[in-house]
Order: sequence, then C-alpha cells, then structure tokens
Amino acid sequence: MAILFDAEKKIFKLDTAGSSYIFKIYDENYLVHLYYGAKIPDYELPDFECRHMYASFSASNAHLLTKDFSADVFPFEIGCNGCGDMRISSLQIRNADGNAATDMRYVSHKIYPGKPALPGLPALYANTDDDCATLEVLTEDKVTGAQATLLYTAFEKHAAITRSVVIRNASDKPFEIEKAMSFNLDLPDADYDLLTLYGRHNMERLLEKRPLAHGRQGIGSRRGSSSHQQNPFMALLRRGANEDHGDAYGFNLVYSCNYVAEVEVDFNNSSRVMMGIDDSDFGWTLAPGEEFWSPEAVLVYSNEGLGGMSRTFHRLYNNNLVRGEWKRKQRPLLINNWEGTYFDFDDDKLVAIAKWAKETGLDMFVMDDGWFGVRNDDRRSLGDWVVNENKLKGGIAPLVKRVKELGLRFGIWYEPEMISPDSDIYRAHPDWCIHVPNRDRSQGRWQCVMDMTRADVRDYLFNIMSEVLAHNDIDYLKWDFNRNITEAGSALLPPERQKGFFHRYILGTYDLFDRITKAYPHLLVEGCSGGGGRYDPGILYYTPQIWCSDNTDALSRIDIQFGTSLCYPASVQGAHVSASRRTGYNTKKDVAMWGTFGYELDPAKISDEDRAVIKTQIEGYHKYYDLIHYGDLYRLICPWDDPYKAAWEFVSEDKSEFMFTVVTKFYMEAQNFFIKMKGLDPAKRYVCEETGKVFSGALLMNAGLSLYHYPNGDGESFALHFKAE
Ligand code: DGJ
Repeated sequence: MAILFDAEKKIFKLDTAGSSYIFKIYDENYLVHLYYGAKIPDYELPDFECRHMYASFSASNAHLLTKDFSADVFPFEIGCNGCGDMRISSLQIRNADGNAATDMRYVSHKIYPGKPALPGLPALYANTDDDCATLEVLTEDKVTGAQATLLYTAFEKHAAITRSVVIRNASDKPFEIEKAMSFNLDLPDADYDLLTLYGRHNMERLLEKRPLAHGRQGIGSRRGSSSHQQNPFMALLRRGANEDHGDAYGFNLVYSCNYVAEVEVDFNNSSRVMMGIDDSDFGWTLAPGEEFWSPEAVLVYSNEGLGGMSRTFHRLYNNNLVRGEWKRKQRPLLINNWEGTYFDFDDDKLVAIAKWAKETGLDMFVMDDGWFGVRNDDRRSLGDWVVNENKLKGGIAPLVKRVKELGLRFGIWYEPEMISPDSDIYRAHPDWCIHVPNRDRSQGRWQCVMDMTRADVRDYLFNIMSEVLAHNDIDYLKWDFNRNITEAGSALLPPERQKGFFHRYILGTYDLFDRITKAYPHLLVEGCSGGGGRYDPGILYYTPQIWCSDNTDALSRIDIQFGTSLCYPASVQGAHVSASRRTGYNTKKDVAMWGTFGYELDPAKISDEDRAVIKTQIEGYHKYYDLIHYGDLYRLICPWDDPYKAAWEFVSEDKSEFMFTVVTKFYMEAQNFFIKMKGLDPAKRYVCEETGKVFSGALLMNAGLSLYHYPNGDGESFALHFKAE
C-alpha cells in the first residue's frame, strides 16, 4: 500500500509515483510535518529529524520547555489557533466558554485501501481499491472535546494526494467552527514563486507569478462561486525551476463557492500553505454529536516543473474526478445557436441551423438561452422553465423530433440557480430568492439568485426541469450561472445559521446537480458561468466538461487555454469555433481543437468556401480525439514567455503518436526558428502525416524542426501530426 506507519518512530509515509509525504507523532502528541517532495526510500525514515527551532518571544508548551520546541515555529499538519502557533491557523473553533483556543493532538489512526466519499461534497474517487490508499488521523482537543479527523488519500500512480478534515463535536455543548481549512502544509523554506490564475469575464485563468515574500499572500473568492477572478488553484514553483524542470507543487480546491488560498512566510523563512472555505464570512455551529466535512484539496508534486505538475492533474482528473457515462467517451460535436441568434429565434430558424449542422458533419444541436417564459431578452423569465410556444410551436417535443429526424442529438440550456424578478415564479414566491430583510435585492443581468439552501426550491427546480428532461429525448444540458451572490441570506435559516449561508448554498446546488445527474444518467451536462466563472474540480465532479470562456476569439483563447491547462485537462475544456473577428477558420479550429470542440455561429453568414473548410476540420477532430483529450500535454511556447507565438503538443501515452500546433499571434520580422518537441521516445522514428518526412524522436527533441516553410503571419497557425514507424 502507498501508506506506511513506522510504529517505533511514529512516522507516517505516503508514497505516490513521484512523491513522498512524511510526518510524525511528536512529543505531547503534536502532529509534526517532516517532508513533502520527490520520492524518498523507506529505509531513510529513521534519519528524518524534526526541525528543532527555538524562537524568542514565542511561548511554548510548558511540558516541552527542556526541548527546542515552540508551537510558533514547528511545522504542523494542522495549524491550531491561539495555543502558541502565531501563524495563520487552519483550524479555529470558538468553544462554549467563548474563547477560540484550539489545540488538536493525535489520538489514533487507521490506514485502508481506497478512498471514502465526502457526504454531500464532490471529491476524487477510487476506481478500484488499488488506485489509492487512505490515512485517517483522529486528533482531539482534550479541553473542549472537539475532534478533527485529518483525511489523506495517496494516489499511487499520479503523484497526487488529497486532503480534507472532518470536525466532530464529541462534547456535550455546542461550539462554533470559525475556520476549517482543508489542509495545512508547512514547507521548510520560502524559495518559491507563487503562481495563480486571475481573470475576469471574457478573460479567465491568466497566469500570474510573484515571488513569495514574508507575511501573508494569497487569493480567494467571496462571490458565491469559485469565480472568474481567481481560480481555486495555486502553485509553488521553486525559484530557477521552469516548465520542464524543478520542484512544482500544485494545489486545487474541489469546491465551487467562497474559498481562500494562502501562503504565509514566517520569520524563519518557512512557508505555511493552506486552502479551504473562506472564513471571513463563515461560521458553523456544531451541536453535540454532529460532524462537519470540509471540501477536499488536491496536492500534486512534480520535479518535472510546471509541465509535469499539469500532466499529473490531467491524468488524475480524467481518471479519478470525471464520472458517469461520458467519462472517456467521445463527446458529440455540437453546434450551439447562442452566438448565431441570441434571443431572436423560432423553431424553423433552429431547425435550419440543425440541418446545416447535420449536412456539415456535426453530431448535436444545442438550443441556448431564450426558449422559455417570455424571454426575448435577458431581463425576465428565469425560473419560469416552461416553453415559449410563440417561439417553439407545440412545445419542445416537435422541435426535438425534427432535430432527431435529421440524425442529430439535442441539447438544451438552463440556468437553474437564477430567478428573474420579472417572472411568474418570483411573483408567487418572492422569498425563494436570496435576500436579507430590509435591504434592496441587488440585481446582476437583471436577475437574482434562487435560495438553494431551501429544499422546497430544489424540489421545484428538479420537478420543473424534469417536465422537460423526463418527457423528451434530450442528450445534453448546458448549466449556466450568470451572476455573483449579494445580500447573502435565507428566509428560512435562523440567525445563528446564516453565517454558514454560502456553504449551505453550494451544498444545495451540489444536491441539485446530484439529483439531475442521477435521474438522467445519459445526459451530458456542461458546466458554464458566463463562460468560465465556475471552472473548478467541484463542478467537474458533476459535469464532465465546462464552457471555458465567453470569449471565443482564437487569439484571446490561447492565453485562456494555456492558463486553464495548468491543472485542467483538454477533455473538460469547452471550446468552440465562432464567427469572431481576428483569425481565419484554420486558426479558430487549431485552437478550439484543444478542447471539446464545436461551433457557435450563424450558418447563414458562412460562405461555401468556409463551410468546405469546416467539413475537413470535423474529420480531423474525430481522428485526433483520443490523442488530444487523453494524451499528455506539453506546452512548447507559452504566452507568458513569448508575446508573438504559442505552441503546444499532445503525445499519446505510449509515445507512438503526437501532434503539435503553432499559432503566430503577431508576425515578428526575421523569424527562422526551430521548435523542439518534448516527451517523445528518442529511439523511435516518427513519420509526419502531412509531409511524409521521417525524423527520430532524438532529432525532434534536441535539434527541433525548422518552421521556416510554415504559415507565420499575424493570426496564422498550423498543426502537424506524427506517427511512430
Ligand atoms: C452565458 C454563457 O456563457 C453563454 O454561452 C450563453 O449561454 C449565455 N450565458 C446565455 O444567456
């Protein structure tokens, strides 16, 4: 098993393909972190020393005064508030006496194959028991009776560990959890750059890099979603490490609501890293006997730089996060009417688009926003999920029939969590909308948000969606979410429970996702939030793909997709060719191929010439589907390093096939450069499908290919495919 416990030394060791994670039960039952990084052999365990450190002014446990121990400087597995550790806490409990002193010490542990599910929460899973092993460490605060079980799962093949915490009230009085981070990691130095993915609507997940500095630094969201602004991902890259070499630690939270991700560098130059539910507006009262489960965090280590880290995330998510019938199944190639028609459509117009799509070689037609209520613009009708028969004569069924008769699958758009003040459902149930007493209800895109903490709201949504989903042969659902949450409160929650509102909101949303996906297991659900505003592993647990961005311009998409690729695989990345301005159809295709692929345009505006090009693109998509979606990604030229060109490569797992793509964003005079491949077998000889030329893996990786004869004008691109002889 990937986890061992040395009973004599009281040391735990979690091993994965390329990493070891080691900690011990120290004196007075403190859980002390020893090491996380490249793999260490088991026989070294006895040589692991604690970093004994003394710190003046730091008060210490009175039983350990003769040792060089101080809770303020020791590296811990859990950072407790108020009992000597002055760094940011990962756990803070306000006990029945009113103080927030929290002090967890080891009680017992168990190790077993496989991985437990997290009740009500998305989480990675084991396919078989030998996929991973789990360590549960029970800790207790003897004074308050609060218990925290630290959960660690080591994924042997993937150099990844998941962590979460379960808090239990084993006392006879209620207490309040004020902060419960999913993990605490105390690294011994601070010689790292911190990498995060920032952005906004239409420009999500752009890479930002800053050196760690003393004090606190980090990111988070307080928007009621994981947000366009800061993805719940961060990485620490050893200074001097790069895309291909050196230590990279990646952290990703499996959560879709308010979160915080922080690093504190202390006066000893140690780095405390943590991620979890945002604690600035959080509190959770736990009655005697009750439990609270934190969301899960994924920790990846690679000594092959950022590229190695990303490939580990990709394989892990493809195998142990994405679920259901669409896991590893080729997704239908779709056309979506949104950018083609917006709200201005009827059944005949939609069928005309579908007909064009079928004749062009596509597999599915998706009807986007505007099919229900009186939604002729974005000011009304969300929540009234009843078909608008002025647009779709006779309802949805005749339209689905006409599309199916063409030989296409059918998809539909919903935004279940939203409610328009101008809607029948709002007029009937104004308290179903998130609000607080005596304050205006702020609107975003003229809409409010449904109170997903309420079971009656969730039942209404499940039932009204089922009116359509249960009675029509629908293959795909786009689940949108187009504003953030304000005046966060529920009419049903008592005052002492309002502090946990955001977490209850997302638990309610996950519950609806769960009910819909269980009731309609054939449905391919695509997550969306004004593009990629809720692009996180929590959503991926329910929807095997997420619309990456409302920005479909190929050149902008390069930056977005490179950033997204830091931890999310191509198979989950919603990407379409659209009519957007800046490039021709070849570049649009080359960029959208790095994703689920599809089209989002008005066929009436496509010339015959462009349509012929689109037909050939569709053939290519089918041919290279597995290579792109399940191959290994190598970023060859990154937008954060080079403003002129971008290039990426997919290599099949057995290294028998690869393809690479180069896009010139802006032409640069005097370019005659060689591009070097990565990740090939040096001994294999690869034949280029397009030119018939043969090269060894060694030549391709070391000397590289000349790009002299390939398109390199502004916005131009090309892709080449190779197979081993
Ligand atoms: C935002 C999405 O990202 C778009 O693709 C589209 O579905 C609109 N919402 C519809 O309102």
